[in-house]
Amino acid sequence: MSSPQSHVTRESASTESLPETLAPELCSEIPGPESRALAVRLARVESQNVTALDPAPIFWERAAFANLWDADGNRFVDLTAAFGVSNVGHAHPEVARAIATQAERLLHGMGDVHPPRVKVKLLERLAEIYPKGVANASPNVRSILSSSGSDAVESAIKTAMLATGRSGILAFEGAYHGLSLGALDCTWRSDFRDPFRSRLPAETHFVPYGDLEAVMRVARGEDMGEGAGKGGIDPEAIGAILVEPVQGRGGERVPPQGFLRGLRTICDEKGWLLIADEIYTGFGRTGAVFACDHEQVVPDLLCVGKGLASGMPISACIGLDEVFAAWPRSEGEALHTQTFLGHPASCAAALASLDIADRWQLAERSKKLGHLTLETLRSLLNGVESVRDIRGLGLMLGIECASPEISIAASHAMLSAGYVLLPSGEDGRVLSLTPPLVISEEALLSACREIARHLIDVSQHNRAPA
Ligand SMILES: Cc1ncc(COP(=O)(O)O)c(C=O)c1O
Repeated sequence: MSSPQSHVTRESASTESLPETLAPELCSEIPGPESRALAVRLARVESQNVTALDPAPIFWERAAFANLWDADGNRFVDLTAAFGVSNVGHAHPEVARAIATQAERLLHGMGDVHPPRVKVKLLERLAEIYPKGVANASPNVRSILSSSGSDAVESAIKTAMLATGRSGILAFEGAYHGLSLGALDCTWRSDFRDPFRSRLPAETHFVPYGDLEAVMRVARGEDMGEGAGKGGIDPEAIGAILVEPVQGRGGERVPPQGFLRGLRTICDEKGWLLIADEIYTGFGRTGAVFACDHEQVVPDLLCVGKGLASGMPISACIGLDEVFAAWPRSEGEALHTQTFLGHPASCAAALASLDIADRWQLAERSKKLGHLTLETLRSLLNGVESVRDIRGLGLMLGIECASPEISIAASHAMLSAGYVLLPSGEDGRVLSLTPPLVISEEALLSACREIARHLIDVSQHNRAPA
């Protein structure tokens, strides 16, 4: 097998051609002996709820663009972009160089006191790329930087509370907005919420995703519902709608066209804020820079993370000037900040990643490849019993299987064939495909054939007489 160092893509990046994706090459069983040994060591030292160890995972050793190598030297194709993060590819040399250069100069600054220079540049860049809507005019926007996606959602919840004086939020069934306590209150799944329910403010009201009529019923005060743990919600108590333009962890669910625009109209009529959680969908994932751009919607607040820096932890709550005006001017003590706010190396990585995505037109690429993949999967899996639905937007695609057992078995089978992919959806029945946006067409089509082969096998096996 070729050594990781022989990966030719570093040269190809500097000559501007897209990197190639190498086919899987496996030199041990999956997981191999080294991964299994690491799993045993990990089991002794990590909280037992963090990494699922049965079956043992593969332990990642290195990655480049859409390929990764595990601790046993097996080479895989990554169909996850590691939770939708590595949009420009893993360890893109320009991103790595930007981090190294910044780290040698200034690795950590005083984000909200004596800030690093690079923070200003990133904030200016975020203001430039904010969705422009039908008017195609750049609104004046500001941001709060932070480290994780959940942090960005916390910033949005607090900003909305200050701007509207109301703490109620309308969110959607299937929503995932993070697991910190404020964000968790807006996350749908009860397995995440139940152990901590007594600590949740229960200020979120959930309605079916994609159902504009349900939102209107709440707006008209006709649906006070059950709320999220207390008796219903008064529309006058709602300050904001929090929505993923495409649900990611909820199972790659794409709402009907016009949904976001409809939410914008309702928010305008009710004086509610529209918060778009584009932590998953941002930076080209769905075939536009932001999924809001598909419907030319300008949200009041926009949460981003994941693909912002293609691998470094950084997130932001970006939003309209007039909304951020609700925060008092800092006179020495920020009301909402973090030690690592505006982390210099993460800001430098974000700027490099945004440059690459622009230069390589990755949003456009995601649109074309997504379309091709969707068509391919639909034709390969047409009439296959183990499959219920194939859907997605850009390179955010899902294959809904007839049961979670089928999708989980398929993800294991794919790993053994050299492809990393994850189940998503409430009970894990959706096979999710969110590869780096630089993955080659050939690798993606090979992955589709491999997935189809497995799902067709399952259907035939289930149909065979006992
Ligand atoms: C839409 C969305 N919002 C928020 C989050 C939370 O981000 P993080 O895990 O970085 O806190 C996620 C994570 O998957 C997400 O998909």
